[in-house]
Amino acid sequence: MKRSKIVGLGHYVPTNIVTNDDLAQRMNTSDEWIQERTGIKERRYIVPGKDTGATMGAAAARMALENANLSADEIDFIILGTLSPDMDFPGTGVLVQRELGLDKKGIGALDIRNQCSGFVYGLSIADQFIRTGMYKNILLIGTEIHSTGLEYNDRGRHISVIFGDGAGAAVISATDEQDKGILTTHLHADGSFAEELAVAAPSSTQSPRLTPEMLEDGSVYPVMNGQLVFKNAVRRFPEVIREALKATDYQPEDIDLLIPHQANLRISEAVRRFMGLPEEKVYNNIMRYGNTTAASIPIAMSEAWQEGKIKEGDLICLAAFGSGFTWASALIRW
Ligand code: UT7
Repeated sequence: MKRSKIVGLGHYVPTNIVTNDDLAQRMNTSDEWIQERTGIKERRYIVPGKDTGATMGAAAARMALENANLSADEIDFIILGTLSPDMDFPGTGVLVQRELGLDKKGIGALDIRNQCSGFVYGLSIADQFIRTGMYKNILLIGTEIHSTGLEYNDRGRHISVIFGDGAGAAVISATDEQDKGILTTHLHADGSFAEELAVAAPSSTQSPRLTPEMLEDGSVYPVMNGQLVFKNAVRRFPEVIREALKATDYQPEDIDLLIPHQANLRISEAVRRFMGLPEEKVYNNIMRYGNTTAASIPIAMSEAWQEGKIKEGDLICLAAFGSGFTWASALIRW
């Protein structure tokens, strides 16, 4: 039976750096509050008209392909996770496919909507397609633009300070090595929390779908019950990591690097303590990029790999939690 392994990683972040002090000029917040509650120092925002979700996703994909030593032509399938599609429909997957010049080849492009857990969900989907022999090389992308959908006022400030823009990508390929690659993936959701971290409008349940009132009452902007999300995150992250360890007969100390979804530095720190891991075994870059939802794990993984923190033979754990609520984990033998 084939297994799947990550053979290339890439990321792209917009050049426009937005510091906490920059945000404090736009709304009632401070560098001190943001750093203390989230660990974030700065994030990237697109310049509208320059970057799109598709161009960022394609840039990350090109880097992943180059690192994998593969040409775009060798990709059989695209999976893309985003909560901020460029268009209501079609999904951003087909736009990235076109950006990469793969439109005439006609390969499939699947969009998934699992927010912060999107990348790990996508990894699991890619793994299943490869294990069954359906595809050999899959491009998995997470791309997000939050900056254009946040409200920079008192109502939205607890949300606006945490999110940032960017994209990450991985090339996942079939391998005959039985002891390498994606060992296990675990996917969960609890829809009873759907409204606790959500954007309600525009909505197909309303006619018209978008009204001036929706702009006025804030329903076009994300709402988040921050403390409830926080509490559930610090419970679900360790739970789903332990589930992956149990499925593969590993112990927490066997993990060489945990790359959590970059939700909040305080969440990652709590998870690290619950799992009994030393600081150097948990990768964080939220300080520089904020929370980029579906893009956060591939950006972090790509940087960790560039920095030499992921080595051949390492046991890498990915874990995510977010809107839905959804949560997920993966264990990878590099
Ligand atoms: O990817 C998964 C998605 N999201 C998450 O994982 C986020 C999980 N939640 C969190 O990380 C935290 O709940 C936040 C960082 C979002 C907020 O931190 P918090 O400690 O839960 O703050 P809070 O919303 O309860 O607000 C505490 C205080 C309030 O003031 P009072 O009522 O105590 O006077 C807020 O009005 O801080 C105020 N506040 C702010 N002050 C300055 C809220 N946002 C800000 C802000 N700047 N940006």
